[in-house]
Formats: sequence, structure tokens, C-alpha cells
Amino acid sequence: MASLSVEQEPLELYTPSAEVKESAFIKDRAKVTEQARKDLEAFWAEAASEYEWFSPWEKVLDDSNKPFYQWFVGGKVNIVDNCLDRHVRTWRRNKLAIIWEGENGEVRTFSYHALNREVCMFANILRSMGVHKGDRVTIYMGRIPELPIAMLACAKIGAVHSVVYGGFSVEALHGRLEDSQSNVVITCDGGRMNGKLVELKKIADEAIRRAGSVEHVIVVRHTGQEVAMEAGRDYWYHDLMALPIAKSAAGSSRCETEVMDAEDPLFMLYTSGTTGKPKAIVHTHGGYMVGVGTTLKWVFDLRDEDRWWCTADPGWITGHSYIVYGPLLLGATSFMYEGAPTYPYPNRWWSMIEKYGINILYTAPTAIRGLMRFGEAWPNRHDLSSLRLLGTVGEPINPEAWRWYHRVIGKGRSPIMDTWWQTETGMFMITPMPETPLKPGSGTIPFPGIEADVYDETGKPVAPGEEGYLVLKTPWPAMLRTIYKDPDRYVQQYWSRFPGVYFTGDSARKDADGYFWIIGRVDDVIKVSGYRLGTAEIESALVSHPAVAEAAAIGLPHEIKGNAIHAFVILRAGIEPSEQLISDLKAHVVHEMGPIANPERIEIVTSLPKTRSGKIMRRVLKARAQGLPEGDLSTLEE
Ligand code: PRX
Repeated sequence: MASLSVEQEPLELYTPSAEVKESAFIKDRAKVTEQARKDLEAFWAEAASEYEWFSPWEKVLDDSNKPFYQWFVGGKVNIVDNCLDRHVRTWRRNKLAIIWEGENGEVRTFSYHALNREVCMFANILRSMGVHKGDRVTIYMGRIPELPIAMLACAKIGAVHSVVYGGFSVEALHGRLEDSQSNVVITCDGGRMNGKLVELKKIADEAIRRAGSVEHVIVVRHTGQEVAMEAGRDYWYHDLMALPIAKSAAGSSRCETEVMDAEDPLFMLYTSGTTGKPKAIVHTHGGYMVGVGTTLKWVFDLRDEDRWWCTADPGWITGHSYIVYGPLLLGATSFMYEGAPTYPYPNRWWSMIEKYGINILYTAPTAIRGLMRFGEAWPNRHDLSSLRLLGTVGEPINPEAWRWYHRVIGKGRSPIMDTWWQTETGMFMITPMPETPLKPGSGTIPFPGIEADVYDETGKPVAPGEEGYLVLKTPWPAMLRTIYKDPDRYVQQYWSRFPGVYFTGDSARKDADGYFWIIGRVDDVIKVSGYRLGTAEIESALVSHPAVAEAAAIGLPHEIKGNAIHAFVILRAGIEPSEQLISDLKAHVVHEMGPIANPERIEIVTSLPKTRSGKIMRRVLKARAQGLPEGDLSTLEE
């Protein structure tokens, strides 16, 4: 269950310096938390009043149809109005919104004015292609500025974006295209990763062929690599942007921002769950905006003069909330980097922190562990003194990596915000704030307005130090609203395990100080390098190979990745096992799913442990592989 060992009791407590405390936006967390506890609606209403609403809400929280909560009911808003329109009317039009560096060293920057202009023109193009409010648009791109531009252009006209991570491959993209029934796909020719070109357009073509709903494909030219363009379906982004339709009727690059209901969907994002296919989590314009803006401001204390770097990919929730929407809501300057952290050398990140004067770095434990293994000499060659705050997300951070990050990167001065949250929560849920005393490996306590607890099987809170299921007991504005096209699954997956309470899918412990310690997933989700993958997806990629009859995938602890995929396969009759076949199967999974799903090990077996009803007992496979006791086997088939 646990990726790397998270120590049971904290070995030390890090109290923030007077300087950090004094400058923090929230100075008295306990007081703010108490206010939220007393009046949750007033608390979130005040947070929402920081933003521009076309017309105000009538009710902050409507809980008359639980668990289908609604926030800021009746309010009219558009998140893009708050990310761009609002800022270009002020001095911020001249401020840098995005600084981007390509893996090959190319640099591009966008002021708020420039970003807004690009978004407006692209939104005009989408409108003229017939994209309407509520239509789904799939975006499948590398980490380039056109990715946020495409997201913002969709949101501006009320279209619902569905971003598919550029590291995913054919079948993963196909499944998501088919489920969302997108007519328009926005992609790019290719990306740069580790000195190599990634063939995004080629993968998109294969997925689109399998899906069948797509009418238009817009292709950003990024690497310049050769790609096939299908006449009548595929258009170059730069060709479209040069057309008169990119401009409004008056010939200006303006575009009217669509007035949305606070509860209208902003985006959907696929994520792996307990069983079957990935499901699309739906987030809205109003509540998501308030949740994301407020958490980023309070936790990372983002200020106008700061340069913020969230190293995630915009294709995951971390990128949606804290590369694209959060920083823009706050009018901040964000840095984005295209490529691998170690290309061409292991000092790439540190050199960019120095070059751009990054003040806040938000990354994942797997990246820290990966860079840590190259030694301190690489970061020590660079001036990292601009860093004021550090952050981590995605999986539990082992105290050893925490301490290295704190000492070597933060020079012992910068507190680490270990933020626990999920695709479903949209925003930070359990997290330190700059004034919170830290224990390495713990995300500390819930954000004001959030009530979390650890339950046993029967739904009773466990004693301090005991392991149980992590639950959330109050609704919050950035919460998922439903699963696209599957409200029953929304209720069943999140609100049925413990009625009336949101079940996170994580196991955790709460210590005597009320600090939360996340242990790991209790469902069939594997966190590989912080990426969330479902066993079902990996297994279905394996059985789509003609040699495979049955497959089971589990996650086992891995020093750098946290967890690595181990697969067990039963071959079809007449197929002989061989080393060659195993490497073919690995290549097949990469082709269907993407490099992140590459199994560490594939073992050929003749049977799999199953329950009498035929469900694979992954728990037993996991215990066997680790040489641990196999637990209760009473439901085992034989
Ligand atoms: O298991 C928890 C882990 O990541 C899961 C959510 O994954 P995803 O939806 O992909 O979102 C990741 C980025 C928000 C959680 O259920 N997780 C996330 N953050 C942490 C974490 N585990 C421990 N500590 C964290 N800070």
C-alpha cells in the first residue's frame, strides 16, 4: 500500500522563521479556521468576493440534493474573465503571465496583454469552427504555451476542455475521445523530451482513426517535424490565426467572454478509479475558481513580484489548477518548462531557477528523489537564493527526500508545503501554510473550511496513530460535481463507502497533534512517479496483445518512482514464453498507454489468484511478490 516508508512518528518539528511568518498572507491560521468552522458559507463568500462576477450569487451553498452540491448558485461568472480580462484592464497588462523555456533552450514570454490577445484570437477561431458553449474539445499537447492558450480559449467561449496528458498514447487517448465525443482536437506536431522528438500528431491520428467522432484537428507547429495532414480535417494553428476570422467583425483581436453560470462545467479531466475505464471528473467555473485562487494565495503566499514554478504537466490536475488557472487568477508570473529535468545535465532545473529567479518551486517527490540521486554538487553550482517557499504533491514524500529538499534546495530557510489533494478535490485540502510547523512526510492539517478524518471499516474515527480510511466531511467549492455521463458512479464511488461523507480512496493516519500522514491508495489505483494509473487500464492494454489471455497489474515499491508496475500474464494456448515476448509486451503497453505505464516487470504465470466470483485478488499477488503474509484467503477460488 505504502510507496516508500513514511515514518510513523515525526522525528523533528520545523517551525517557520519569524520572517516567513510575518510576511505570510494568513498570519493566524487557527483563527481563520475557526471562522470557517463557525460559518462555512460566509467564509467562502468572502473568498469569492475577491473575484469579478457578472452578477452575484443568490446562495453560496445549495446542499438540498446531496451529494450533488452546488456552489454560488445563480451567480454569473467566467473564470477567464478573472484570469485575463480583469488583469488587462490594469497595470498587469504589461506584466509577464508566462515565461516558457523549451528543452532546446528556446525562450518565449507572454505578457497578460499578449496572452489575452492570443486567447481571444484562438477563441474566435474555435467559435467560427462551430464550437459552442457546452461542447467538448480535446487537447493533446506537449508542455508548450499553446496548451494553456487552448484551455483558456475553450473556457472563454464556454466550451468544456478535456486535456489528455501528452505522455499518454494511442489507446489512452482513444478511450478519452470516445467517452467525451469531442468533435475538435487540438494537438501539436510533436514535443521535445530527453533530447528526442515525441510524435504527438502521429499518436493523435491513430487514436482519432479508432474513435470516429472527430471532425476538425488543429495542429500547432512546434518542433517542425514532418507530420501527415489530412485535407479537410487538419488545420495548422498558425494558418488559422492568420485568417481574418481570428479577428472580430471590427477587425480587432477582441473576443467576447461568454457569460457562464457559476455551476456550468469548465473542464473535464479523466482519472483512474477503482474499476474499469478512466472516468471524467467535472469541474465548474465558479466554485473551482474560488477554491483554486484562495488556496494558491494562502498556501504559497503568491505575490505580484514573485516568479512561480509548478513543474507539473498542464495535462494533470496539478497543472490545470496551479499552472494555468490559479496563477492567472492571482495575476502572477508563471514559469513553464517543456522537457526533462536532467536534460542535458542533472542541473537543468537548478540552472533555470537561477536564470529566471524563481521564488516558489512546486514539484513532486519522485522528481526530488530522481534529482537527489545525482548528488548535491549539481544544485550547489547554482545560486538558489531566490527561493522562498517550496512545495510537493502527488504522493507521500519520504522524510529523507523531504530533508534533502529542505536542506539542499531550500538551504534550510524555505518551508515545504506538502499539499494533499486529488483530481476530484480540484484544490489543496490538507496542507501547511507558511506559518504551520512542519513534520517531514506529513501534509499537516486541513485547509480552513475543510474537515477531514480517518475512519475504520465501520465509519468510526480511529484512535490517533491508527491507520484507516481518509474521508472529507464538509463540501468545498472546488469539489468535483459529478462524473461525466455517470452520476450513479459519482455517488457510488465517492459517497457510498461511508454515507454522507466523501471517501478519498486513500489510507492515512492522524497523529496526536491532529497531523495527517497519508499512506497510499486502498483501491486499484497505482501512483507511478506521482501519476495516477488504473490497474484495469494496464491490464486491458496487455490483453489487447494477441499473445495474452489474462493479465493482472499491481504496484510495488520503487526507490525513485514511489511505485512501479508489475504485471502477471497468462498466455493464450500454444504461445511459448520468451524474453522476446516479454519485451514485446512491454513495448505494446507503451504504445497503447504511454511510457509512464511501462511495466517494470512482466511475469508469465499459469494461473492468477481469484475470488470465487472471478475477481483477481491483487492484494494476494502483492503480498506474494513482497514475501509478506497473504492475509485472509477465505474467498480465494481454490
Ligand atoms: O493518494 C493521494 C496522492 O495522489 C492521489 C490523487 O492523485 P491525482 O488525482 O492524480 O492528483 C494528484 C495531484 C493532486 C491522492 O489520492 N497524493 C496527492 N498528494 C499527496 C498524495 N499523497 C501523499 N501526499 C500528498 N501530498
